[in-house]
This record gives sequence, structure tokens and C-alpha cells, in this order.
Amino acid sequence: MELYLDTANVAEVERLARIFPLAGVTTNPSIVAASKVPLWEVLPRLREAVGKDGRLFAQVLGRDAATMVAQAKQLVARIPGIVVKVPVTSEGLAAIKLLTAGGITTLGTAVYSPAQGLLAALAGAEYVAPYVNRVDAQGGDGIKTVQELQALLDLHAPRCKVLAASFKTPRQALDCLLAGCEAITLPLDVAQQLIRSPAVDAAIDKFEHDWSGAFGNLNL
Ligand code: E4P
Repeated sequence: MELYLDTANVAEVERLARIFPLAGVTTNPSIVAASKVPLWEVLPRLREAVGKDGRLFAQVLGRDAATMVAQAKQLVARIPGIVVKVPVTSEGLAAIKLLTAGGITTLGTAVYSPAQGLLAALAGAEYVAPYVNRVDAQGGDGIKTVQELQALLDLHAPRCKVLAASFKTPRQALDCLLAGCEAITLPLDVAQQLIRSPAVDAAIDKFEHDWSGAFGNLNL
């Protein structure tokens, strides 16, 4: 499977790359805007932070296919190997077809329904990103959306991977992996929650307390 961080925080990527088996980093326009670092400054730094085998994703802002394609070419020219995120609208589907024909790797993003994800896969996207928590937030069922999308891809577009996104809890991410998704991207707070909890800290405190109570130190 592939584990990504959904962030433009270079220092946190460097720190967590030491801990997690990171496949790379995903960004979107809101994430880059929140970092306050201009795109063409932050992308090269993220590129370096993910290492030569890591993958970096950045999104186009255009609304029409021609602008999306032009921005995708700009991204690839300046950051070789970058995966271009294209929102799955009608124009986005046209852009994904053109980019695929031109050999540019894409991810279909802003996916809120299984049908939308399937169409992006059939257009040639290498990844599709369903927004789990945002589907939940509008009264839908994010995990069911992912399960149905994964089943559709298994049947009709097996070369495309689900890169599940938009998480508020580790449980949502695990449910996507149980549904068969090959990739997930986690915001920093959810990544931290995967390995830290008050219960874990309390268990380790008790080990130390018991040991030092018996032997007077923490040496083995
Ligand atoms: C990924 O493609 C999305 O940009 C991202 O995961 C959205 O996450 P959010 O709903 O937490 O903003």
C-alpha cells in the first residue's frame, strides 16, 4: 500500500519521513495557501523532502480543460515526476483524457461519488481521490462511497488506484484500507493519532514506574 501525508509543511514531512513508511506527499490549493509559502517555492522543497522514490501531488486551478492542461504542463515542466491532481468535473475529465494521451500522470480529485471516480479512472487517471469526511459532512456515507468505488475499479478499471482522502479520524482511514484501497493520504493530526494516544502513553509510564520502583533506575 501507499501512505501519503496531506500537507505542505516541509518540516513535518521531514520529521515524519523518519517514522512512517511514506510514499510521498499530496497537496491541494487550500493546503498550499495555508502554508503561506508560494507554490514554486514549496513544491521543490517538498520534492526534496519526499526523496527520489517518493511521489508528490499538486493540483491545477483552472476550470476549463485547456487551462487545466496548460497548468499541468507547467507543473510537470518545473517539478519532473509530479502527479497532477485534476478535479473531476466535465472539463476535468476532458483534461485527464488529454493529459493521459500526452503521457502526464494524473489523479482525479474532489470525488464525491463512485460514478465520478469510475469516470476519472476510465479517462486515464492513475489515482482517484474520494473525499471521505467531506461526503460524511454533507450527510452521505464516505466509507460506503469508497467501498463502491473500489469495487467498480476492481471490475472495470483495475489499473487505477483509489487514494482515499479527507480524513478526520484514523478509523476512517483504516476502513478505506479494509475496503481494499491501495493508497491513503493523511492530514498531520490524523497521522499523529495513528501512533499516539493517552492510553499508549499511560501504558509506557506504568512500565517505567514499575521498573524504577523495583530496580531504582531505567537501565536494562
Ligand atoms: C485530497 O485530494 C484532498 O485535497 C484532501 O484530502 C481534502 O481533505 P479535507 O477534506 O480535510 O480538506
